[in-house]
Amino acid sequence: MKISLATSAPSQIETECLAVTVIDTGDKKPAPGVLSSDPAVVAAAADLIASGEVTGKIFETVLLHKPAGLKAKRLLFVGGGKAKNFSAYELRKMAGTAVRFLKPKGIRSFAFIAPENWGGQADQAAQSTRVAERSGTAEAVRAVVEGAFVGNFEPNTYQSDRKDQAIDQLTVIAPAKDQKAAERAIEEARILGESQNFTRDLVNEPGNKMTPTELANRAREMVESLKIPELKIEIHDADFIKEKKMGAFWSVSQGSDEPPALIVMTYTPAGAPEKPVLGLVGKGITFDSGGISIKPSDGMEKMKYDMAGGGAMIGAMRAIALLKPKVKVIGIVCASENMPSGKAQKPGDVQIAMSGKSIEIINTDAEGRLVLADGLYYARQLGCTHLIDAATLTGACVVALGMINAGVFSNNEEMFGRFSEALKRSGEKMWRLPVDQEYQEMIKSGIADIVNSGGRWGGAVTAAMFLKEFVDETPWIHLDIAGVAWMEENKSWIAKGPSGVAVRSLVEFVRSYEK
Ligand code: BES
Ligand code: MN
Ligand code: ZN
Repeated sequence: MKISLATSAPSQIETECLAVTVIDTGDKKPAPGVLSSDPAVVAAAADLIASGEVTGKIFETVLLHKPAGLKAKRLLFVGGGKAKNFSAYELRKMAGTAVRFLKPKGIRSFAFIAPENWGGQADQAAQSTRVAERSGTAEAVRAVVEGAFVGNFEPNTYQSDRKDQAIDQLTVIAPAKDQKAAERAIEEARILGESQNFTRDLVNEPGNKMTPTELANRAREMVESLKIPELKIEIHDADFIKEKKMGAFWSVSQGSDEPPALIVMTYTPAGAPEKPVLGLVGKGITFDSGGISIKPSDGMEKMKYDMAGGGAMIGAMRAIALLKPKVKVIGIVCASENMPSGKAQKPGDVQIAMSGKSIEIINTDAEGRLVLADGLYYARQLGCTHLIDAATLTGACVVALGMINAGVFSNNEEMFGRFSEALKRSGEKMWRLPVDQEYQEMIKSGIADIVNSGGRWGGAVTAAMFLKEFVDETPWIHLDIAGVAWMEENKSWIAKGPSGVAVRSLVEFVRSYEK
């Protein structure tokens, strides 16, 4: 999708469709207001508002043909909800809603008016849990572009009758005085949007196509096609994993005919300080059958998305290389299948991780933490001073937080504070869960140092406690994205399928170190 900026009056823009935000400024009775200072746009809305057809209700879409006084062929009103709640978070989804509303109608290009005078509408006190409370033109433009990319993605890759309906061209309209800031915002948001969709393409692929080898190939192709000298990639095979004594990683891979891959992407910008070195470590299980502790067949097909954490890291490295923050970053993806076979590990087996810790395997389905144990430890060996991992790690996290928030865990307040700020900018929802020392008892083993499953209670926490054993004192954040990496149904702003969650937050987090 091509993005361009227009700074002329919205009414003067020739386009298939002009989209404008309507918010409800009313307290009890709806009082819809159009977020544009163009009198012709406001006038075109008047009758529809008077008739009650346009209310400003969140994600409401009303399409008007041949609007009087406008050069646009159509005018689309997109609801932004209550004025006091309206923020970049809503705006992003509204842009996605506009894209998904227009593309099946055969419309290939449209223009979106970046809301004017919208900053600070959100009542912060009333929404301590909310995200994205920035204001101004650049913020509005960013949200519109990011949201449009999210809405433009379709997962129907293998449908023979698919129509490939997508928006090819989006024009964002912003005041001329903000041109510079708006242009930058467009460029950055395009990189983020394309990188998020790159990740979604990886996650969408079925397990028979997206093997560990293929994931490594896709990462390599991405790095090579960017031709950015600061970004390099190395792909290590099973021999390397065994040589490095990554016994936890290998224990998961040993049962599969498909070989594992350890993907290492390094971003080393000239002029970056020696420290920090940020390590992004992703779970890349390209199919999780559960292994010998095999999963029930109902819903097992979904376990092709068990590489979403790894996919997010590859997408994030892409965006980082293009945005060029002056900070060193290493991206590591532990790619493997988890399969049952005569060579597969068994419950009761004891494995020695690269760190030297011994692990009693209670459940071969708790495999994500095993590959990450060695991935995180290896990241430290490579010199990472700060670690973030992302993983579709536990069903327990989905039980705890549902499909709205990802789980965040951290052993470091400074790092967590930074990440919280990044979440506000990205508009992704994540909720902190504890890693108190008391939970450590739940992963003690009678025969080895630790077990790989803490059982049913607090399953998301004990999984995090397991990872914590391998990061030691290194500042660390763990993202459990099991509930949010896959949309279970179509929404007005996003298709059912891979969400590409965490890419934007990871990039915003990394960029916070350039200041
Ligand atoms: N990949 C799964 C977790 C998962 C569940 C991801 C649902 C997405 C949706 C993970 O490898 C797993 O199987 N975890 C087990 C851990 C248990 C055996 C301790 C789980 O959550 O049941
Ligand atoms: Mn599993
Ligand atoms: Zn898994």
